[in-house]
Amino acid sequence: MNAPTFKSSPLDVERIRQDFPILKLQVNDKPLVYLDNAASSQMPQQVIDRIVRYQTTQHANIHRAVHYLSETATHEYEIARRTLQKFINAKEDREIIFTSGTTEAINLVMHGYGRKFIKAGDEIILTTLEHHSNIVPWQMLCEETGAKIRVVPINDAGELDIDVYESLFNERTKFVGVVHISNALGTINPVKEMIAFAHARGVPVLVDGAQAAPHLKVDVQELDCDFYAYSGHKLCGPTGIGMLYGKAKHLEAMQPYKGGGDMILSVTFEKTTYNTIPFKFEAGTPPIMAAIGLGAAIDYLQTIGLDNIAAHEHALLAYATAQINDMPGVGIIGTAKNKASVISFAIDGVHPHDIGSLLNQEGVAVRTGHHCAQPVMNRYRVPATSRASFAFYNTMAEVDALIAGIRVVQKVFA
Ligand code: ALA
Repeated sequence: MNAPTFKSSPLDVERIRQDFPILKLQVNDKPLVYLDNAASSQMPQQVIDRIVRYQTTQHANIHRAVHYLSETATHEYEIARRTLQKFINAKEDREIIFTSGTTEAINLVMHGYGRKFIKAGDEIILTTLEHHSNIVPWQMLCEETGAKIRVVPINDAGELDIDVYESLFNERTKFVGVVHISNALGTINPVKEMIAFAHARGVPVLVDGAQAAPHLKVDVQELDCDFYAYSGHKLCGPTGIGMLYGKAKHLEAMQPYKGGGDMILSVTFEKTTYNTIPFKFEAGTPPIMAAIGLGAAIDYLQTIGLDNIAAHEHALLAYATAQINDMPGVGIIGTAKNKASVISFAIDGVHPHDIGSLLNQEGVAVRTGHHCAQPVMNRYRVPATSRASFAFYNTMAEVDALIAGIRVVQKVFA
């Protein structure tokens, strides 16, 4: 593979980096090289400023009072919801539920949809590539109901076996959960085709978009998914906020997940009537500041452009992949043809935690461990990998720093 040059990026990355105060840090007397974006990305000054403006001039509780601040906060919170709606091209803003993140969004679907519609003997199809957050809630449901999980395997490159996927469907299949992009390997799954196949058999599909929403344009109407989830902190937004998209017909049919204030129309000790969607699923005071911060983060990403982000990250991925492939004793785990900007790698004879520590000495931040995706690790018979994950603010020079760091690790363990 020819390593692309820096010119192949459509972005002025040096200018973009000025927006991110944290990228100026020195770690262990070296410039920080932050390559742990799949775990959490960094926040630009524009989002920090928006949060400060909200907190210093607009904050009060929402949906509860007629005073100026409450109306302002309510207005800004609902504007943020519409920003999220447009970001994934949902048909209606009431199809967007603010959650604490992807994990809560999937748990909401498990409780609200799964506990109502999935029964003993029913089957749920998941894939080997799922993050634990799209496995464990369904296992909990199966324990409770007697339903069963069927798993789509992957090939050596880390791609789903679509023939097996199709063969798993039968009259007992009631739900599919699939990750859009694998957090551990970077594989981009053919979710649109998988959804069409499931729908032809009347089966709804939830897509875990935690790793996809920050890196490619998502259009839920084009995908025709029933549910889509992502987290704000991987999108340059705050932690503690994320989103569940659900088709209105599903959300309306679902039971609420949490009870409390704001999710009701009326309460007596004899009977409670639930609020309409999306409020039915947003019990209690929500993370208002975080929701508005996420809206600002999405505005920021859209000024850069998701297509530009994808092109730049693809150039980083190609450059890093070409260099690592040339290094004796270093192997990439996950070599799917259609891949996002994640490189899981192993160095012969070195434990991933040692790799992580030595790279940290060089100022390079990668994640080491099982990445909350133990079935993927088991598939490759490794306990853990080292994972470099790129964002649009990373540079080719930072890829070079990673490669130099890997050489240092090899030298120490030679
Ligand atoms: N799911 C996050 C990761 O992949 C935390 O690192």
